[in-house]
Amino acid sequence: MKPDNKLVQWVEINRRAFFHNVAEFRKRLGKTELMAVIKANAYGHGLKEIAGLAEEAGIGWFGVHSLEEGLTLRQAGFRQKILVLGYLPLAGAEDAVQGDLRVTVYNSETLEALARAARKMKRPALVHVKIETGTNRQGIPVGKLGSFLRMSHKHPEVLIEGFSSHFANIEDTTDDIYPKYQLNNFLQALKVAEELGIKIPVRHMSCSAAAILFPETYFNLARVGIGLYGLWPSRETLVSCRLRGQQPLKLKPVLGWKAKIAQVKSVPRGAYVGYGCTYRTTRPTKLAVIPVGYYDGYDRSLSNAAYVLVKGKRAQVRGRVCMDFIMADITDIPDVSLEDTVTLIGSDGRDKITADQLAALAGTINYEIVTRINPFIPRLIV
Ligand SMILES: Cc1ncc(COP(=O)(O)O)c(C=O)c1O
Repeated sequence: MKPDNKLVQWVEINRRAFFHNVAEFRKRLGKTELMAVIKANAYGHGLKEIAGLAEEAGIGWFGVHSLEEGLTLRQAGFRQKILVLGYLPLAGAEDAVQGDLRVTVYNSETLEALARAARKMKRPALVHVKIETGTNRQGIPVGKLGSFLRMSHKHPEVLIEGFSSHFANIEDTTDDIYPKYQLNNFLQALKVAEELGIKIPVRHMSCSAAAILFPETYFNLARVGIGLYGLWPSRETLVSCRLRGQQPLKLKPVLGWKAKIAQVKSVPRGAYVGYGCTYRTTRPTKLAVIPVGYYDGYDRSLSNAAYVLVKGKRAQVRGRVCMDFIMADITDIPDVSLEDTVTLIGSDGRDKITADQLAALAGTINYEIVTRINPFIPRLIV
């Protein structure tokens, strides 16, 4: 799709890159099924847009954070298995059952609310029990799992379809001690179920980094987010991959972020630029005013730090990032005009700016750079 002329900024989603990344993960995962983690507006890439591409790629599982995200997908007509990874408010149980959403559970209150909803709707509630293996976020500790499972027996309308867990320290290190400890705890949890004679058909704990590095964590489903968008979970993951003698996946970034120049202006030497007068020109300077700001997800910490691409060349951001604007120095880029395209993330000519580069400048991770791109900005599949 070509950008509508009336847009001042847009996000481009590269379908070939997405399919390529799906194929890379499928190659790695072998028989293990792939869940596309599309929470947080598909990591800023657009929930429905990415769900559409994932459907085309034949992905059968979607992971979302909230009831709302799950229902949005159902209303849009998606029939895949959808697992709510986040917290389901008790009052949302009926909507979840009605919407055929799988729910992550780790307390008796949620299980009982789902049982009531299932009885009322006369259809089973499907749940995945989250096991606390060491992240200390959501989950039931292995020591309490037996009593939870025995309690769940009183609610035959709730079907325990899966067990899941999530790694705490897999992206931040090249050390595998903690993932191994968590994996061991997960295996213990599966043993508890087995000893109670409970079959757990779907078992999953791999995120992108685990899918890249640890085949022993695959089980029969892997929840992959960042990697499908063509971004590495971290530099450590890439280093670990090399240290283990594994062939790194060839990931291709899916997202590009573009805008139109809203004004080209010349200012004299010694002029201040933007709020707080944090930048002062050292020569007669040409500025491009770009209608993107921190409201759009262009982090304020990129003030006087990042660059954008104009006509394939780097234009340094001058002054502070405003709510809706940034100014970039185009003095050394000839023939820039009003409404020329600016690249905030992505390639232009032979240069590029990546989410990882912006993350390094902003003191954060690529996940945050992409997920915080304002959902109101149109996502165009190209
Ligand atoms: C529960 C859960 N599973 C899977 C993922 C996907 O992780 P990644 O994007 O690193 O693949 C996340 C991401 O935060 C998550 O919270």
